[in-house]
Amino acid sequence: MKIAIVLGTRPEIIKMASVMDEIKNRGQELLLIHTGQHYDKEMSEQFFIDLKLPVPDYNINVGSGSHGKQTGKMMDGIEEVILKEKPDIVLVQGDTNAVLAGALVASKLHIPVGHVEAGLRSFDETMPEEINRLGADVCSKFYFVPTEESAINLAMEGISRKRIFITGNTVVDACFRNLKISEARPLEDYDKSLADIDIDNMDNIVALTMHRAETVDVKERLENVIGALEELSEMNIIFPIHPRTKKMMENFGLFDKLNNMEHVHIIKPVGYLDFLLLLSKSTFILTDSGGLQEEAITLDVPALTLRYNTERPETVTAGGNILVGSDKEVILENARKILDDAEFANKMRSAKNPYGVGEAAKVMLDVILEAEEKDELAIRPPDAVMATFTRKSRVPDKDITVSEFEGENNALVKIAFEGEDVKFPYDDLNLNGLTVIYEDYS
Ligand code: UD1
Ligand code: UDP
Repeated sequence: MKIAIVLGTRPEIIKMASVMDEIKNRGQELLLIHTGQHYDKEMSEQFFIDLKLPVPDYNINVGSGSHGKQTGKMMDGIEEVILKEKPDIVLVQGDTNAVLAGALVASKLHIPVGHVEAGLRSFDETMPEEINRLGADVCSKFYFVPTEESAINLAMEGISRKRIFITGNTVVDACFRNLKISEARPLEDYDKSLADIDIDNMDNIVALTMHRAETVDVKERLENVIGALEELSEMNIIFPIHPRTKKMMENFGLFDKLNNMEHVHIIKPVGYLDFLLLLSKSTFILTDSGGLQEEAITLDVPALTLRYNTERPETVTAGGNILVGSDKEVILENARKILDDAEFANKMRSAKNPYGVGEAAKVMLDVILEAEEKDELAIRPPDAVMATFTRKSRVPDKDITVSEFEGENNALVKIAFEGEDVKFPYDDLNLNGLTVIYEDYS
């Protein structure tokens, strides 16, 4: 079977690495399409080197640009490749423009789309990523969701539970596989920027990343964050700067101010092995990155997230992540708590990782290969008049699982409630006394 992966940015490369490995391990053919959205060596090629990934079969070289132009160019290029290569399934990951472009193009060519890290919602429609997530989740056939919370988001939007697979997040696969490799390297293999500051013997480290449009494109927000950094002078703040952020800080005349602070080390983005090392040595992190919120809780590092919402709320409820926005006082108050209150810091560190055990890629391949075996992969037009259904609710008064209820009633269970609490309808969930919302096909 030919499995295509469309990707274009740093986090997609990292988070699809284990999926690429698994495709190979299962003896399947991989068609790798790079959109070229990230093109600097340190934003793209370095990750292929660090994670030992194959060179992409195609690079569409879209480069930077406005959302419309970038997404349009991607669609044009992806369509051409897909028409020529005819993959059996197209996988996209996350919420970048590549995800929207890949999902739209493939679904219109009747090629099933598997959305890796589906179902995340920030509920902030000013974020380009939220539009990409919503768009891709309309076009997908297989939803590989990291947590039950994301599964419930999709079920509440009407997606069939039978297409939703809770896999954990592939970032855990990536972290677990690479941290040991990273730590076992000799100093001379570290990125020069980390070797120069002698990271192995440095204490009081805070890793900082920011790149999100809503943080770095707004001067006032950047100024507030910089104001907080200035006061954390007892910490060594290591800031591998995203090219977007560098550009914006230079435009706003803020780069030199931050760069001149002795305790702040601005470096180029580093490769994955180096970044994992930096993360694992950090007392806490400051970030507006999506992936970093997940990696921090996976590696037991407290996270202060420089945002006002998150599509990773599990990290906050678990206690490993605090949303501090770009409010100087809130950033400082929480940073001080981590530094001064050992109990508080330990509680954050011991937050339970909600993203699984590092076998997400394996579960995905199980699902895809089983669908192929059962001939359920292809998207075909209906060969009979399509069944209509009515939407109903009921409270069963006997022990009955979701699967049994569906069999008895020719129904598809959409969601269930236990009192006020929403329940994801797993096959074996006992519906006795629960309010069941379902589609009746009888
Ligand atoms: C993109 C994703 C974002 C993801 C991030 C990961 C979208 C809408 N955004 O944001 O969801 O979190 O990647 O890092 O898909 N640039 C370079 N070199 C590069 C790439 C970019 O200099 O290799 C600069 C360019 O000035 C460009 C700017 O960074 O205009 C922004 O790049 P772009 O790809 O549009 O978005 P990101 O901010 O990277
Ligand atoms: N990362 C990296 N080097 C860096 C900064 C980040 O390898 O200098 C990794 C980080 O470990 C995480 C991913 O890049 O896996 C996050 O990417 P980013 O923050 O750009 O995107 P997001 O996750 O917000 O979409």
